Amino acid sequence: MKDRRGKWRILIFFLCIGAVSVGCARLEKEDGKKSVRIGVSLYRGDDTFINNIRGELENCAKDYEQKQGVKVTLDIQDAKGNQNTQNNQVERFISLGCDVMCINPVDRTAASVIIDKAMTAGIPLVFFNRQPVEEDMNRWDQLYYVGAAAKESAVLQGSILVEQYKKDPGSLDINGDGVISYVLLEGESSHQDSLIRTEWSIQTLKDGGVPIEKITGGIANWERSQASALMEQWLEQYPDTIELVICNNDDMALGAIDALERAGDGGANLVGIDATIPGLEAVRSGKLLGTVSADKERYAGAIFSLASAKALGEEIDPDISLEGGKYYWCPQVAVTEN
Ligand code: GAL
Repeated sequence: MKDRRGKWRILIFFLCIGAVSVGCARLEKEDGKKSVRIGVSLYRGDDTFINNIRGELENCAKDYEQKQGVKVTLDIQDAKGNQNTQNNQVERFISLGCDVMCINPVDRTAASVIIDKAMTAGIPLVFFNRQPVEEDMNRWDQLYYVGAAAKESAVLQGSILVEQYKKDPGSLDINGDGVISYVLLEGESSHQDSLIRTEWSIQTLKDGGVPIEKITGGIANWERSQASALMEQWLEQYPDTIELVICNNDDMALGAIDALERAGDGGANLVGIDATIPGLEAVRSGKLLGTVSADKERYAGAIFSLASAKALGEEIDPDISLEGGKYYWCPQVAVTEN
């Protein structure tokens, strides 16, 4: 009898200890979490613009750790252009207990698979750069998007040329025939930026009274080497004709410059978008007439700020002004040498 009572006392003692420690763990979480784990998946780690954003994100995390005293584990993965790989990375982030996930989707039309996984696990998502369709973005109130508005980039790109034409028409109309003959290098056909940038760049030139005529155009998927190959072909097909190369991004403009340099042709003007580090160097050296810059510090800063607030269960910084409570549009400026 005495022995049984002893056993009960021991059991009650351990149950109490268990209850107290669960309580403590909860308290620790609610009263100031001291570490956050953020899963980041990039559609392709070798994309220059995305790589620049990655660098800025890493700076944000270091800065935040120093200033806020919260340990940040930034788990950055490269999906290498494969949606299945990215879906597996998302599953891994969930199993590792990530507090929030920042996703640069491979296929922006297939974001629902990732959203399903995040919703089931209750982990907020910050998409960036490759915009999921609106229907998907409206599925949950814990979905955010950070990007640079495609129409704005294009209008700024077009206005670099409009300004240049107003200042010195002969600098664009190189053969002086009254019309500027151009070729166009486009990004991935499924990307929201490609179509809109192409459309509004041309529209801005037309609205600005610049006489233009399209020679040809092609898709180079944002890539320097693909753009270089296309440009090489066009230079052979249309010798001494191309006066302007309009590019949906800087990397493709750099590829076109590579081809022009190989052909020993220094005539044509080029414009890009992104203001990547090599893009800015090309502007400084006069190889690129201009580019458009989305402030990368602010871009990555917005992704990080949304992610850390969500991870810590805090209010979103009021400086991150969200359209419709979901979309952050990073401000942009045109960059030229003069
Ligand atoms: C665009 C950018 C491109 C490329 C692409 C990837 O916004 O201008 O250079 O990075 O995103 O999604």
